[in-house]
Amino acid sequence: MSAVQPGTIERKRIHDLLAEEERRFVDLRPASAARAERAAVHLLDGVPMPWMTRLPGAFPIFFDTASGASFTDVDGRRYVDFCLGDTGAMAGHALEQVAEALGRQARRGITTMLPTDDAAWVGEELHRRFGLPVWQMAMTATDANRFVLRFCRQLTGRAKVAVMDWCYHGTVDEAFATLDANGDVQPRVGSLGPPVHPSATTRVVQFNDLGQLDAALAHGDVACVLMEPALTNIGIVLPDDGYLAGVREITRRHGVLLVIDETHTICVGPGGATRAWGLEPDFFVIGKTIGGGMPAAAYGMTAAIAARLGGHTGADSIDTSGVGGTLTGNALAIAAVRATLSSALREDDFAHMIPLATAWADGVRGAYESAGLPWHVQQLGARAEYWFCPPPRNGAEAAAGVDAELDLLMHLWAVNRGILLTPFHNMALFSPHHTQADVDLHTEVFTAAVRALTA
Ligand SMILES: Cc1ncc(COP(=O)(O)O)c(C=O)c1O
Repeated sequence: MSAVQPGTIERKRIHDLLAEEERRFVDLRPASAARAERAAVHLLDGVPMPWMTRLPGAFPIFFDTASGASFTDVDGRRYVDFCLGDTGAMAGHALEQVAEALGRQARRGITTMLPTDDAAWVGEELHRRFGLPVWQMAMTATDANRFVLRFCRQLTGRAKVAVMDWCYHGTVDEAFATLDANGDVQPRVGSLGPPVHPSATTRVVQFNDLGQLDAALAHGDVACVLMEPALTNIGIVLPDDGYLAGVREITRRHGVLLVIDETHTICVGPGGATRAWGLEPDFFVIGKTIGGGMPAAAYGMTAAIAARLGGHTGADSIDTSGVGGTLTGNALAIAAVRATLSSALREDDFAHMIPLATAWADGVRGAYESAGLPWHVQQLGARAEYWFCPPPRNGAEAAAGVDAELDLLMHLWAVNRGILLTPFHNMALFSPHHTQADVDLHTEVFTAAVRALTA
């Protein structure tokens, strides 16, 4: 699949515009440039976390304040934030309820390795939203996935994990695996220092391919399938009708546990895709947004799984089980989850967010269709994104459809006009604080980019 139809947009045009936008990025941000120069002295690549270099531009934009659905940088420039910390701030930046709860709890104590009153409330709310009856906390979705994989191996006595090609579930070693052209499992491009070759730990299958899943599980060595109900990390790839029901049937038939990671697909609704689509996972993982920006994550399990785990978690050696951590479930994180889930990401919030995502997608579609470009736009609840190719059906097609130069240009063009997109794709995520004016600004800026590309 070619990313851009030959002749539709000249490469030279993309390169010229990129050079112009790179210059503009630097000219607009002297204060960020000065901070970047200083930070480069003692921080690896000038940033506290390597992904921060993935945002567009010659240096990172240093933010000053973030509130609701926008932030202001140290040069005083305001941005509509459609990245929202790649979902960590989906409930909105600087939520008053979260700030208040954090301040209150911080003054009462943060880490004691003892539960507070908020803990039971959080368990009840997670059950009410997502349906699974038994819960545990983690600091990040990565941690939650790691813990769940351990439980799955322990319960089944099987060593391997099955994941979808081009999935992402955090820095989980078993999930950093892709298929090569021969269908063999290989380390994911970019993964640093894999502990072992991932073919020793992982079977990889294409999303939307039930036959492949059935064949992979027939080996009898897979403990669990770890998957998003729609791929969101190689762009949005939606499940075919009946696919998820098929996954459930096949996993049950092979005695394989099903782990649904809803860290991103919470964008479908307050109970994630699991509630909206009636899924029946054995384990459920959620991270990022539930803490309103504070590190917090959770994993839920069925009553049957909890009963089977009972014998494993009460032992004296639980602290060396590979599950949990010193700061996990600390009072501050739990207070943040309570404040977030009681004041945001509710039915009413989604009733505001999802139509805005639809309007954003309509604006994008109108612009590329008017220009005669064979692009497409995809929506998953409160999340939408555009592609420079037809809709992919699996991770491999999605990866083949990426046009890195055009991606970069669209991101730079947007950020130079006050819009931050999620850096990993051309994706916009909506919070309860976005407005129609934010959508209109994006439509105007996107339309201008399409005109510049096709003029
Ligand atoms: C589906 C999914 N699971 C897990 C994670 C890991 O989240 P974290 O980086 O907060 O551990 C991500 C991060 O993007 C994700 O998209």
